[in-house]
Amino acid sequence: MKKYIIETWGCQMNEHDSEKLAGMLANMGYLECDDKKDADLIIYNTCCVRENAELKVYGNLGQLKPLKQKNPDMIIGVCGCMMQQAHIVEHIKEKYPFVDLIFGTHNLHNFPVLLANCKQTDNMLVEVWDQEGEIVEGLPSIRKYGLKAFVNIMYGCNNFCTYCIVPYTRGRERSRKPDDIVEEIKNLVDNGTKEVTLLGQNVNSYGKTLEKPIDFADLLYQINGIERLERIRFMTSHPKDVSSKLIKAIAECDKVCEHIHLPVQAGSNRVLKSMNRKYTKEQYLKLVEDIKKAVPNISITTDIIVGFPGETEKDFIDTLDVVEKVKYDNAFTFIYSIRKGTPAAKMEDQIPDDVKHERFNRLLEILHKGVEEQNAKLKDQIVEVLVEGTSKNDDDVLMGRTRTNKVVNFKGSKDLIGEILKVKVTNPKKFSLFGELLE
Ligand code: 5AD
Ligand code: SF4
Repeated sequence: MKKYIIETWGCQMNEHDSEKLAGMLANMGYLECDDKKDADLIIYNTCCVRENAELKVYGNLGQLKPLKQKNPDMIIGVCGCMMQQAHIVEHIKEKYPFVDLIFGTHNLHNFPVLLANCKQTDNMLVEVWDQEGEIVEGLPSIRKYGLKAFVNIMYGCNNFCTYCIVPYTRGRERSRKPDDIVEEIKNLVDNGTKEVTLLGQNVNSYGKTLEKPIDFADLLYQINGIERLERIRFMTSHPKDVSSKLIKAIAECDKVCEHIHLPVQAGSNRVLKSMNRKYTKEQYLKLVEDIKKAVPNISITTDIIVGFPGETEKDFIDTLDVVEKVKYDNAFTFIYSIRKGTPAAKMEDQIPDDVKHERFNRLLEILHKGVEEQNAKLKDQIVEVLVEGTSKNDDDVLMGRTRTNKVVNFKGSKDLIGEILKVKVTNPKKFSLFGELLE
């Protein structure tokens, strides 16, 4: 049997794409393996949202050269967001000529044909589509984790935030039909899934491309009706599109977890405008207040970029102010990275690296203090935990997540994996909680 390895960089969307590739490979009789030396096929599914991600891919590609020299029959494929950019494909052709196959995000579903064609030729096969086609339904996929599953509800993005490459690599927004989504989730539940995460670059604008009018709130109500499904999560939400109807749906649907990922990106109105985010600091804070009022104890997480072109110390203080006011439960923080082809790449006043790093460290300090305070509030509280497995370091300790998406560790038997249990939080830490299982 042929063996494969897929390595994935980037967001959940990419991870789920890799699950689809794995599903197609399983149908072709391939088996997954751990060691690159044993692999007949290595695929890198790439991300280009920041320069760091790209550099890692190049570094990893370089390491494959000696392997390929030893085993010339091995096929090396590179796909994902980086491949949607012509200058990157050119760079790979020039610097990594031992790569066999390059394809993009829009023709992932054609992978079996591409692989077959690739085997027929000695030259590098490059097939990247500029345009998204129709949504392809019914692709097989191998989910990494049966209890929890990602489900795409839409693809692409129309927002064109000025720093972001995603609209250029993932194309325009298009939504899957609700019946297809519900069908997929019912199928997952029949196979043991308890929690789904609905994926889209901006789930709040779900449904705009569909013939039958439906919005994200309507979809949540529909999915909430699926029997034996226990938990619904979703990401990412653009603050400009969170309607009061959606807040009501989150509050009313018992399966929708008390957690929202609401990227703020920056606190200063001037920077938000320059980022093309279409909301102000005040609107964002009001939105957070409305959500907290409707869904008490909801956890709020965010994405923040530091050092966007033109960001002054005063602008940055506005970001810190938002962090202090909102009291985030967690945040992904990024140093602004120039992305060729985006409007921000051409903006004047790029911020020097040392200033970016200094601000980044200050942000982390304030953020972590807030996260710790949020977790401390859970001391002695009883939380609902979906047990996902054992702790990385200790086989007698179970690991699960609360509805608010916080990791809890507690002593318990392995038989409890997959159960939803009540746990008392005894020792909240900065990045995780420790607790005791209630009988
Ligand atoms: N530089 C830094 N961070 C970025 N992000 C997107 N593009 C960039 C960039 N050019 C961040 C945003 C987004 C997250 C997925 O990545 O915060 O929400
Ligand atoms: Fe990028 Fe903005 Fe679209 Fe998010 S909403 S994917 S940050 S363009």
